[in-house]
Amino acid sequence: MAPKVLVSDKLSETAVQIFRDRGIDVDFEPALGKDKDALLAKIGEYDGLAIRSATKVTEKLLEAAGNLKVVGRAGIGTDNVDKVAASKKGVIVMNTPFGNMITTAEHAIAMMFAVARQIPEASASTHAGKWEKSKFMGVELTGKTLGVIGAGNIGGIVCDRARGLKMKVAAYDPFLSEEKAEQMQVEKVELDDLLARADFITLHVPLIDATRNILSRENLAKTKKGVRIINCARGGLVDEEALAELLKSGHVAGAAFDVFAEEPATENPLFNLPNVVCTPHLGAATTEAQENVALQVAEQMSNYLLDGA
Ligand code: MLT
Repeated sequence: MAPKVLVSDKLSETAVQIFRDRGIDVDFEPALGKDKDALLAKIGEYDGLAIRSATKVTEKLLEAAGNLKVVGRAGIGTDNVDKVAASKKGVIVMNTPFGNMITTAEHAIAMMFAVARQIPEASASTHAGKWEKSKFMGVELTGKTLGVIGAGNIGGIVCDRARGLKMKVAAYDPFLSEEKAEQMQVEKVELDDLLARADFITLHVPLIDATRNILSRENLAKTKKGVRIINCARGGLVDEEALAELLKSGHVAGAAFDVFAEEPATENPLFNLPNVVCTPHLGAATTEAQENVALQVAEQMSNYLLDGA
C-alpha cells in the first residue's frame, strides 16, 4: 500500500505534485494546521506529515500519530516540533535548511535599508499627502560596520551582500574558523567587541538555550549609541522590553524586526515606536523560496518513506 502523507500547512502545490508523482497518497489540507482538534482526529491515518510553521507538532499529537514515521518542515526552524517526543516515538524530523536562505538574507538586507532610511514611515507620510521632506534624514550604509551574530548559511549570505554594499563586516560566531572568516572577508570578533563597534547589528542564529536572549538588557546596554538592530531570525533572541526602552531613550536609533517573542504578534513592546520597522515573519516569503522548500521537503520525505533514505 502507498504511504500516506498529510500536508497540514500552506505549502506550494509543487509539493503535492511531487508526492503524487512519487506514488504517495497525499492529502492537502492547509487549514488543519490551525485546527488542533481536527488534526488530532486525523493524524493516525498518516505515515508522513508535511508542515510549515502553523502546525504545532506536540507530544499529544505525536501520541495520536500511531503510523507516523516522518515530519517534514518546509523551512529551517523546527521550533514548532517537539523533537524530544518525536525521537522517543522514533519519528524522524527533517527540515530544508537551504531552500529559503537567500530569501531570508535578502529580507534582512531590505530591513537594514528600510530602517536606515525610514522608508516605511516616509512612505506612509507621503501616502497621507504630507510631503515631509526634511523629517526623514537617513544614514548611509557604505563604510558602516555591520555586526553579524551567526555567520552560517543565512548570516554568510548577509555578510556577502553587505560586503557588496561596501560595509565593514564583523561576525560573531563560535563555529566560524579564522580561515573561513578570511575567505568571507569578514572580521571574526567576540560578542562584546561586536556590540561596542557595530553601527548595525543583524541576528542569524537559531533560538536555542545558548542563544536565547543573546541581546539581553545587559548586552543591549553595551551597544554603540545610534546602533540599528535587525532581527529576521527568531523571536526570543532579543529582550524586546529593554530594546523598546533604549529606542525611547534614543540610545538605539532604529530596529527592524520580522520575528517576535510571541507569534502571531498582535501586541509587542516594539509596536508603534518611531523608526521601528515590523513585518509579520516574512523572512522566507518569496515565490522562489516557497517553491524551493516545498520541492525539497516533498523529495526528502518521499525518499524516506519509499526507500528509507
Ligand atoms: C524558517 O524557519 O524557515 C523561517 O523562519 C520561515 C518560516 O518559518 O516560515
